Amino acid sequence: MATITVDGREIYAKDNAILIDELLSHDISVPHFCYHPALGKDGNCRMCMVEIEGQKRPQIACDTPVKDGMIIRTKGENISRVKRQILELELINHPIDCPVCDQAGECSLQKFYMDAGLYESRLDTPKNKKLKHVDLGSNVMLDQERCVLCTRCVRFTRDITKTHELGVVVRNDHSFISTFPGKKLTNPYSMNVIDLCPVGALTSKDFRFKQRVWFLKPENAICDGCSRGCSLLVDHNREKYKDDIVFRYRPKHNDAVNGYFICDYGRLSYKKENDNRLLNAYIRGMESEFEYATLKLQRLLKRYNSKALLLISPTLSLEEMYRLKKLAVKLDLSINGYDNTFDEDFGDDMLRKSDKTPNRRSLELLGINSSRQSLERDLKDKEFILFVNRFDTDLLQNLNFEGSIGVLSSVDFTPKDKLDILVPVVSHTGRDGTFINCDDIIQYSQCQINKDIQAAKILDLVEKVFNDGIFTCKAVWESGLEEEPFLNGIKFDSVRFNSIKIEPK
Ligand code: SF4
Ligand code: SF4
Ligand code: FES
Repeated sequence: MATITVDGREIYAKDNAILIDELLSHDISVPHFCYHPALGKDGNCRMCMVEIEGQKRPQIACDTPVKDGMIIRTKGENISRVKRQILELELINHPIDCPVCDQAGECSLQKFYMDAGLYESRLDTPKNKKLKHVDLGSNVMLDQERCVLCTRCVRFTRDITKTHELGVVVRNDHSFISTFPGKKLTNPYSMNVIDLCPVGALTSKDFRFKQRVWFLKPENAICDGCSRGCSLLVDHNREKYKDDIVFRYRPKHNDAVNGYFICDYGRLSYKKENDNRLLNAYIRGMESEFEYATLKLQRLLKRYNSKALLLISPTLSLEEMYRLKKLAVKLDLSINGYDNTFDEDFGDDMLRKSDKTPNRRSLELLGINSSRQSLERDLKDKEFILFVNRFDTDLLQNLNFEGSIGVLSSVDFTPKDKLDILVPVVSHTGRDGTFINCDDIIQYSQCQINKDIQAAKILDLVEKVFNDGIFTCKAVWESGLEEEPFLNGIKFDSVRFNSIKIEPK
């Protein structure tokens, strides 16, 4: 470790680390455009200037290694003048259209100008005109005039996805970002350039103009798009007289799982939280009172007991699986977790996995059978099958099952007339829970958005049978889940705030 002095305050920093990283990790503001921890330094924007005692001129913090005893100034007349001058250059040709820019409220240029710029424009020459609506590919729009040419987007496609779709073309103040001839920005991770872009040059076709970002409330969650389980921020808002709507997913930095990025498929999977939701309970195809349907479901399970099978989905949380397993023991039901949601074309060597469910590993660790053979065995002599958190008509047809069918689902589907009972349940962002990913990392998804849909939480439905007051994740852990050997003594309170690698024996 090294001791350095920043603006008169002593801090400990990693010797030889990049100065900007150490300053930012101590919450010391260092304006910057081109540096990004996932992309490294480029040194093109010069915004991260700091004064270092003993050096004649200000230095860029993104290309300065930490040395013990350094004395650094990030504020003061000298450094403010330098930053003002750089911002003045950045803004010479910028359209300053913040009121209609989708990035307003989360734009670095806007923030740095308010913090360090604030000058009267000395220009009366016309600005360079560039293109304002360039369709880069399936999901990203470019406004060339707003670009500060930091090259983060170019370096992302060059160094991270290695798909090389973007480049800087033309020289000097006529330079702009473009796709190469005949190419489109269509790689499966393309939308990360929207988060990387520090200004409103790259925006999401899907999200732009839907909501001002300062109205959005972010919640922490885990993506349920595949078994990687990337960390997410779920941005949602309830407008007056309207339902709570999820507007977008963004990556949440998590070095243990997804770093700074997520895939486009996972990012856009937020739509299922709003659209095509099951809004009513049904009994034999007829709409039913929600309360009546949940009571009827309990009665059916008790009536059929050993003749009933719970077919549970790997999209359930560890807590839900654990409680359903207990329910199966109490009511003498069979339980199986068979699911064939695999897509070999989806998996890649970056983040995406071919297993498109988030929690198959928990089924295995809880000892719940999930093979096709075990399902066929478990289904013999059964008269009632309850699909929990999904409905798979193809599977049902394949199994030639003739008995009664129940479904718990957050998604609407047709036809419903063949089902004895259908009860709506809350969707992924409506309920908290822990998930174990493909690398045995256990993570807590804490998002619990309360929509205006009468839908059951699976933990609540199970509690109604046990009547034991256990309907929170913490209570499930304390009721016995934390004794499971594969958790090696991990407690819920540790999982709540950390991604932890479990090491099942
Ligand atoms: S489009 Fe955005 S990320 Fe790309 S160079 Fe311009 S400002 Fe940087
Ligand atoms: S890689 Fe998988 S978990 Fe990550 S964002 Fe994509 S679909 Fe979601
Ligand atoms: S962030 Fe240091 S030069 Fe751009």
